[in-house]
Amino acid sequence: MTTIPNSPGIGLRLAHLAQMVTTRPPAGWLEVHPENFLANPHAAELLAELSTQYPISVHTVGISVGSAGGIDRLHVQRIRELVDQITPVFVSGHLAWSTYGAEYLNDLLPLPYNEETLQIVSANVDEVQNTLSIPYLIENPASYVGFDSSTMKETEFLRKLVQHTGCRLLLDVSNVVVSAHNMGFDAHQYIDDFPADAIVEMHLGGFTPEGDEATPGAEVWIDTHAAAIAERSWDLYAYTVRRWGAKPTLIEWDNELPSLATLLDEAAYADRVVAGIAREAAHAKAR
Ligand SMILES: [Fe+2]
Repeated sequence: MTTIPNSPGIGLRLAHLAQMVTTRPPAGWLEVHPENFLANPHAAELLAELSTQYPISVHTVGISVGSAGGIDRLHVQRIRELVDQITPVFVSGHLAWSTYGAEYLNDLLPLPYNEETLQIVSANVDEVQNTLSIPYLIENPASYVGFDSSTMKETEFLRKLVQHTGCRLLLDVSNVVVSAHNMGFDAHQYIDDFPADAIVEMHLGGFTPEGDEATPGAEVWIDTHAAAIAERSWDLYAYTVRRWGAKPTLIEWDNELPSLATLLDEAAYADRVVAGIAREAAHAKAR
């Protein structure tokens, strides 16, 4: 089975697809949104070609595991067909909901963390995993609001979800930074509480501070994936790697897309962070 190295990968967007095929730069692995390829057979063909050289992770944005009405089976079946074509190492998606009946909403919407939601999400994740025949990775969301009906912390909810379904987790470190700022919790404590045994991939993405309409002078941080990785995210990433070890890490940049070279530079920086921590550990052992 192909594996993903514990080195950084980059998000492959359609704008960079042709350049990737012709230049084959030294990226550790690639992550794609299947929704970009399902209705684009030519792009899917190029991706299949790249998949012979690069390990691929498939990151869905259209599977709504938080929907009480169940998932869109046809959509998951179409993702299964792409999975059969490119044999990815991972398939992942968000802990959120984004469909209402037959309608697709443009946002990843938050969920209250309680037993009722846990039953709904567990049933949907089971169905996704049965259809894909591969463990599904669930990603912690960037949060902007909480719910009075939540009875457990997000980390506890994720731990129970792993126990119920056997799914694995994608830890988005930048989402932790964004949520900690917006919701007023301690990001390091969140990392300490995270069900680390289940982490198989990490994300780092850029966010955008905006004025908070409800509180003049305050800022809301928006998970835009439209900027370089912030210093705060690099710091929390280093903390996470020291705490739980290095994992395949993706540089996520979807909007105001930079050049492929800039993406590769960000990935190389992540590599240096991990290498620096490994050196530190080796020194400490030698002492
Ligand atoms: Fe992410």
